[in-house]
Amino acid sequence: MIELVGLETVEANSVERLLDRAFGPDRHGRTAYRLRAGVAALPGPSLAACDEGALVGSIQLWPVQFTGDDGRRVPLILVGPVAVAPDRQRDGIGRMLVAAALARVPNEPLMLIGDPEYYGRFFGFSAEHTAGWRLPGPVEQHRLLARGDAVPTGPGSVGPRIAALA
Ligand SMILES: CC(C)(COP(=O)(O)OP(=O)(O)OC[C@H]1O[C@@H](n2cnc3c(N)ncnc32)[C@H](O)[C@@H]1OP(=O)(O)O)[C@@H](O)C(=O)NCCC(=O)NCCS
Repeated sequence: MIELVGLETVEANSVERLLDRAFGPDRHGRTAYRLRAGVAALPGPSLAACDEGALVGSIQLWPVQFTGDDGRRVPLILVGPVAVAPDRQRDGIGRMLVAAALARVPNEPLMLIGDPEYYGRFFGFSAEHTAGWRLPGPVEQHRLLARGDAVPTGPGSVGPRIAALA
């Protein structure tokens, strides 16, 4: 039976190994990693899925910030990576992890880089508001997704939410 526990209760190395298996070892160069450079994953909604004590999935959420060209600063939560062990994919574990994590941040504006076919279909994310956003690396605009009433629209940049800048 799948059990969800706080990600901080799981050995960090086993999470890294799971992420390597799901995304490949070159994952660190991805724009999503630059977006949250220097910040720690949020301990409440970041979760691990375990089956009989074995790690089979994980999700991490991070504090980031939109800074509009007009000076607006809007805190956002970056969702992901979401990873499921390759031999356990398409069995509902990913959806379980995302649903449980999002339920822990019910009113926050959210963003992620991912497949709209998955995150739109199951969780209501869309690229509708993100056309003007600049990220610290390349991103395909249709994969830059957001959800929530307070999601900002318009030109601006997104980066890590570091206390001194927040
Ligand atoms: C993407 C991922 C998190 C989904 O989790 P999962 O446990 O395998 O999938 P779930 O069982 O929750 O969902 C299955 C459904 O989603 C669909 N689905 C799964 N991955 C999908 C994708 N990338 N795009 C579109 N649909 C997808 C399946 O077709 C299935 O639909 P169905 O029920 O109609 O057959 C997981 O496959 C994974 O870790 N993949 C590799 C890493 C990755 O790409 N992570 C996401 C980027 S942030």
